Amino acid sequence: MAKEKILVTSALPYANGNIHLGHLSGAYLPADIYVRYKRLKGDDIIYICGSDEHGVPITITADKEKVTPKEIIDRYHASNKTAFEKFGMSFDIYSRTSIPVHHQTSQEFFKAFYDQGLLVEKKSMQFYDETAKMFLPDRYVEGTCPKCGNEEARSDECEKCGSLYDPSELKNPKSKISGHTPVLKETSHWFFPLGKYQPRLEKYVQEMNEKFGWKDNVLQYCRSWFNDGLKDRAVTRDLDWGVKVPLEGVQNKVLYVWFEAVLGYISATKELSAQRGTPEMWKSYWQNDKTKYIAFIGKDNVVFHTIIFPAMLMAWNDAKSDKYILPQNVPANEFLNFEGKKFSKSRGWGIDVDEFLELFPADMLRYTLAANLPENKDTDFFWKEFQGRTNGELADILGNFVNRTFTFAHKHFDGKVPSRSKVEKIDEEMLELLKSQPAKIADLLERYKIKDAVFEMMNLARAGNKYFNDSEPWVTSKSDKEKCGTTINICLNTIYTLAEVFEPVIPFASRKIFNMLNSNSCNWENCGGENLTVGDKLNQPEILFTKIEDKTIDELINKLPKSEEAAQEAAEEITIDEFRRIKLKAAKIIAAENVKKSDKLLKLQIDLGSEKRQLVAGIAKSYSPEELIGKKVLIVANLKPAKLFGLESQGMVLALDTPEEGKVKLIEIEDSIELGKTAK
Ligand code: MF3
Ligand code: ZN
Repeated sequence: MAKEKILVTSALPYANGNIHLGHLSGAYLPADIYVRYKRLKGDDIIYICGSDEHGVPITITADKEKVTPKEIIDRYHASNKTAFEKFGMSFDIYSRTSIPVHHQTSQEFFKAFYDQGLLVEKKSMQFYDETAKMFLPDRYVEGTCPKCGNEEARSDECEKCGSLYDPSELKNPKSKISGHTPVLKETSHWFFPLGKYQPRLEKYVQEMNEKFGWKDNVLQYCRSWFNDGLKDRAVTRDLDWGVKVPLEGVQNKVLYVWFEAVLGYISATKELSAQRGTPEMWKSYWQNDKTKYIAFIGKDNVVFHTIIFPAMLMAWNDAKSDKYILPQNVPANEFLNFEGKKFSKSRGWGIDVDEFLELFPADMLRYTLAANLPENKDTDFFWKEFQGRTNGELADILGNFVNRTFTFAHKHFDGKVPSRSKVEKIDEEMLELLKSQPAKIADLLERYKIKDAVFEMMNLARAGNKYFNDSEPWVTSKSDKEKCGTTINICLNTIYTLAEVFEPVIPFASRKIFNMLNSNSCNWENCGGENLTVGDKLNQPEILFTKIEDKTIDELINKLPKSEEAAQEAAEEITIDEFRRIKLKAAKIIAAENVKKSDKLLKLQIDLGSEKRQLVAGIAKSYSPEELIGKKVLIVANLKPAKLFGLESQGMVLALDTPEEGKVKLIEIEDSIELGKTAK
């Protein structure tokens, strides 16, 4: 097959916090798997990423920690770079947007638009904090979304429903700096005429979808923006941290972070070119219409990659001779949640990549995340599932198959690849599968169906295990050594193929397997064939995956912060002896009437079998006196008598609180229960 030229980018994460598992599942792991697969195929591919180091997310973090933005980006750029490395991300470069070449690149784009007369300077009203004496762009203001009512919406963007709006439309705005209600103050900004590109953008999305099959979720987002109609977008901000607006006499204004961040992909490729000593190399990817450009992102970034970035590239291409390519596909993922809830740093919900990799090897995490990618809907990371996949799939299926085959080869074939003699039906079938399975996996990977591809990878290991079992080499080693050799030869070739097809997902284990085989990976297209030479020496098997004990997982689960209700209940725990002091008795309501001057209380007469009592209960809003007569209920019989509206109450009737119905509901007991019986 002809070699492809491919450019892959993953969204540049803000350098304002640690990467967590949700990030990995969204834009990084799927891209890495795709890229590693393409490299195995021998395609010409580069994989670009880096830190997004400007914008309000960075300055807010700096404000909060009372340090400079520079300190924040240096800290998190370094820690995220290391975390990605430990996780096995195979970026060709992990760049950053604070480097000079990025400032130049984005200023060049701005100037190109400005010189074409494309940018319109407009006065507009922006939020301003009178206490802090500064403008409050983007996330500096939080309020209620005018479209969906989300109470954590930003000045001009709601993450929940994905809509963009004018700051003046936001309801209940609050400044993140002072907590005060900001005022709207006039300022002037440059606007990019996005609306002008709508017809071409619609055509672009449609064409790409027809040719390359875009994901439904991505198309839906695009359609909804097109339906709303694209509006002019301000591409400058009143801030001093960022890329300066390259116009004479303009001060205290920087480029809008999204305007320059997407261009960060280009700058990073330039940096990579310089590093490799081929400064023009970036053009052979970005300015070459043979290049296939795939942008991996999470769902919150769709508009920027399918509409804003393409529009910017179109605008550049209209005016210049060195033309850029546009994304051919934007396989955005939905979100990964953690144990049923959104990741939240402030609530301590979730786990950083770094922390995770202190506890477990990267491959285990890569496999579980890959098997459960939020490709079409949000998914969850559960500790129990992680343990289950590691123990039940990686260790028991893949690890076990590799281990038993190697152990067998060492014991019966002197640690060498045995020859293959007569091939029977069972062998034939396994060999067929070895040929067809990589193609099946490749087809899924080509269509970004990574989760399904991972399932098929493990299926090959499953088939290997079954083949080993059904061939019974432990029997044939005594009865028919040649046949036994055939089995082990095929098992070893299967292991070779597994090491190859699994490489994109579990690269560390794959390397170990190749070492055990004394071999190297080949070109993907040949990986199902015969890749081992008869008589070649094998190395001793290593344990690939150590099982995770229940104790380890239970401790991790117990460490999770409890929900507020659960935490409160835990704090209010009582002992069984304390509970026994409460006497709950079966009673029947024999009379009921309203309490004068109270719309909440009813006066009840109850029968406890051996005695009768008067209770005053706050149930008048939920029951009329008549409907109560004859009901059998539970009461707290030893509650200290109290006076309510001048009436003595000698106990309390048990009822369930159902605020969603605005009522309480008596806990009624079976009619057959004898009055006065005590509950335990
Ligand atoms: N920093 C952004 C985020 O974390 C993503 C930027 S992607 C880029 O949501 F293309 F703009 F770089
Ligand atoms: Zn909204």
